Amino acid sequence: MKLLSRKATCNTHGQDSSYFLGWQEYEKNPYDEIKNPTGIIQMGLAENQLSFDLLESWLGNNQDAAGFKKDGQSIFRELALFQDYHGLPAFKKAMVEFMAEIRGNKVTFDQNKIVLTAGATSANETLMFCLAEPGEAFLLPTPYYPGFDRDLKWRTGVEIVPIQCTSSNGFQITAPALEEAFQEAQKRNLRVKGVLVTNPSNPLGTTITRSELNLLLSLITEKGIHLISDEIYSGTVFNSPGFVSVMEVLKDMKCESSQVWNSVHVVYSLSKDLGLPGFRVGAIYSNDDMVVSAATKMSSFGLVSSQTQYLLAALLSDKKFTRNYISENQKRLKQRQKLLVKGLEKAGISCLKSNAGLFCWVNMKHLLSSKTFDAEMELWKKIVHQVKLNISPGSSCHCTEPGWFRVCFANMSEETLHLAIQRLKSFVESMNINNQIHHQLLKNSRRLSLTKWVLRLSFDHDREPEER
Ligand SMILES: Cc1ncc(COP(=O)(O)O)c(C=O)c1O
Repeated sequence: MKLLSRKATCNTHGQDSSYFLGWQEYEKNPYDEIKNPTGIIQMGLAENQLSFDLLESWLGNNQDAAGFKKDGQSIFRELALFQDYHGLPAFKKAMVEFMAEIRGNKVTFDQNKIVLTAGATSANETLMFCLAEPGEAFLLPTPYYPGFDRDLKWRTGVEIVPIQCTSSNGFQITAPALEEAFQEAQKRNLRVKGVLVTNPSNPLGTTITRSELNLLLSLITEKGIHLISDEIYSGTVFNSPGFVSVMEVLKDMKCESSQVWNSVHVVYSLSKDLGLPGFRVGAIYSNDDMVVSAATKMSSFGLVSSQTQYLLAALLSDKKFTRNYISENQKRLKQRQKLLVKGLEKAGISCLKSNAGLFCWVNMKHLLSSKTFDAEMELWKKIVHQVKLNISPGSSCHCTEPGWFRVCFANMSEETLHLAIQRLKSFVESMNINNQIHHQLLKNSRRLSLTKWVLRLSFDHDREPEER
């Protein structure tokens, strides 16, 4: 008798992706400056550890909030008791105001249209449950965040159809690529319920342009489908062009009374912008009351704890703090990204030009032994086991071109990042030397066989008269 369910044992979770395998390798031998200086450096985890000091300093100055007190009195019992799944009004208000601030207050959000979830993971899955039946599909531009295979498909039975984007235009979304994805869905007999994008993109570290957003909005209008914009990295935009939220484009279109207004849904989380993935705070924002109502009911499977909401309501309501945090955090990310890009440049490695995120999309095509995904895996294994860096291969993000890797830069100290760059540089240099030796040997052996051939020819020629 089978003891576990089909769902529990099926392998659509994606646990065997190189994205997750890299984390396992790191866990076996994690780098530590003192205790394990030759260990693996984790560069496959999009964590933001650059601004903890700002959060800690706020906590130090606001001990009432951290100690679960209000006007000096404990509110422990209030927080410990059962909460309804609508969330604390004070926290929802603070969240929507923070989201508006990140978007330069060009858009405002209504706290009655936000649903709190345990991170963006839960928000994305909840939206799949609300918008699609098992066996229906969402289109996703490639390369995409490897966790989506788990978050969107595993428990919901929803399918992903890739929108194939390529390096030829910096992986931007085009009308022909969208059309091809629709054709692919048709071939697979899948009904398309919507498109899901990440803006800024994980893994590209780029923002979606206004013209791409216009293209997506006209497509969903024409086809009568949904658009989900996962804007978990919206506060990490550190360079121009600035961030344009789909909500801003919708507002500019003045389309409140049309269907498209209700067909766009935004996902957000504090895991990246505030660097708090452990707090599990995410949200769905939708103009569609039915989606808000269904998602609110479903959110009881992944609520944000009351004490977390209480603490963060106080933190996010401190406008002086949030304003300073957002700009300082972006400054630090910008400096980090530059350090990585320049360091890689010195090693002869280029990156896709980026303006956001906690990672770079790195081009290592020239280091592949052939233009194949097998060669990409071969190189990735060398980088994990010999160079001792865990980075994420493009194939784990469903990239269609072998040789791209996502490299994270905000989850370590500056010294560790320098060391990581140094390790990669030495590896590339040793590869170049090996290649030179290999070429020289090849040349020598060709020369040797040529010499032998010439010798044999002249020998034969010398003997010719005798043989005649
Ligand atoms: C695009 C994207 N969406 C969702 C998530 C999940 O985030 P959370 O920790 O809020 O569940 C991540 C995490 O890396 C992500 O990159």
